[in-house]
Amino acid sequence: MADAREEFIRSLPKAELHVHIEGTLEPEMMFELAARNGVDLPYGDVAEVRAAYSFDDLQSFLDIYYEGASVLQLTQDFDDLMSAYLQRAHADGVRRAEIFFDPQTHTERGIGFDVFMAGFLAAIERAQRELGISAALIMCFLRHLPVDAAADTLELALPHREHLLGVGLDSSEVGHPPEPYAPVFRRAAELGLRRVAHAGEEGPPAYVAGALDALGAERIDHGVRAESDDALIARLADSSIPLTVCPLSNLALGGVERLEEHNLKRLMDRGVMVTVNSDDPAYFGGYLLDNYVRTARALDLTSDDLATLARNSIEASFATDDERARWLAELDAISA
Ligand code: ADE
Ligand code: ZN
Repeated sequence: MADAREEFIRSLPKAELHVHIEGTLEPEMMFELAARNGVDLPYGDVAEVRAAYSFDDLQSFLDIYYEGASVLQLTQDFDDLMSAYLQRAHADGVRRAEIFFDPQTHTERGIGFDVFMAGFLAAIERAQRELGISAALIMCFLRHLPVDAAADTLELALPHREHLLGVGLDSSEVGHPPEPYAPVFRRAAELGLRRVAHAGEEGPPAYVAGALDALGAERIDHGVRAESDDALIARLADSSIPLTVCPLSNLALGGVERLEEHNLKRLMDRGVMVTVNSDDPAYFGGYLLDNYVRTARALDLTSDDLATLARNSIEASFATDDERARWLAELDAISA
C-alpha cells in the first residue's frame, strides 16, 4: 500500500524534464512490437530481457537500449510508446513532460521523421485532450556519431520545426565533449529552439562548462559530476541553471553504489536548482514517482525538500508562463 509520503509526492504538481521516450520501452511492449513487426529479439522472454538489464556503466546500457529500439518501426508503434509513457506520467502527478527522442536511432534504420513524429504527436494530442497533461518534444543528437550527422539531422527536422521544443545532446559522453556541436546548437538557436545537453553524467566538470559556454545550454542533463568543481557549482547556483538529475539512473549505471550516497541533497544545499527525473525508466527500474520516493527515503528528504524539487521542475520547464503560474499556484495550495 502506498504510504503517506508517496501520496504526498504524487499530489505535488511536477514536471519531468529528462526522459528518453526510447527508454520507456517496457520489455512487454518490446515483445509485442517485435511480434507485430517480425523482429527477432536475442531474448526468449520478458524475464530474460529484465535479466540482461544489469549495467556496469553508461555504454553497457546504451548498447542494449539502441538494440531494443529496433522493434519501433511504424507510426502506431511510436504512438503506443508515447501513449503508455504519458499515461504513466499522468498517474505519477506529472503536469508537464519535456520528452527526449533520438531521431538518429530511427533515421539510421531507414525510419524517417514523418513516421515517428506522426506517432509521437498523435499520442501527445490525445493525452493533452483526455488527461490534461502538457507535453513537448526535444530532439537529441547522438554524440557518438559525427557532428555532420547532427547537422544533417537538424535540417531533416525542419519540416517538423513547429512540433519541436528544443534540441539536446546525448549518448556516450566520455571522449565526446560538447564543443564540436557548437555550430549545430547555434543553428538550433537561430531557429528558435531551446537548448539542453547531457553533461557531467560520467564526464568531467569541463564538459558541463563546455555545454554552457559552447552550446548555450539552458539546462544541464545530469550534471552531478560538477560537484567536484567549486567555481562551477557557484556558477550553476548563481545563474540558476537547472540540473535534471536522475537518481535511479545514476544508481543503475554505477555513478553511485548506493542511493544513500547520491549528491542530490548536497547540490540542493549548495544552492543548485536541482530537479528529479527518470531518464530511461523501463531500464532503470522506476518512473518519476519512484525516483522521488526512493531518493526521499535514501536521503531523508523533508516535505519542504520535496516541494522545492517539484517547484524547481516547474520553474525549470519551458512551458508557457500561464501554465507554470497555474501549476505553481496548485503547488502553493498543497505545500504552503
Ligand atoms: N540516452 C538515453 N539515456 C541516456 C543517458 N543516461 N545518458 C546519455 N545518453 C542517453
Ligand atoms: Zn538522459
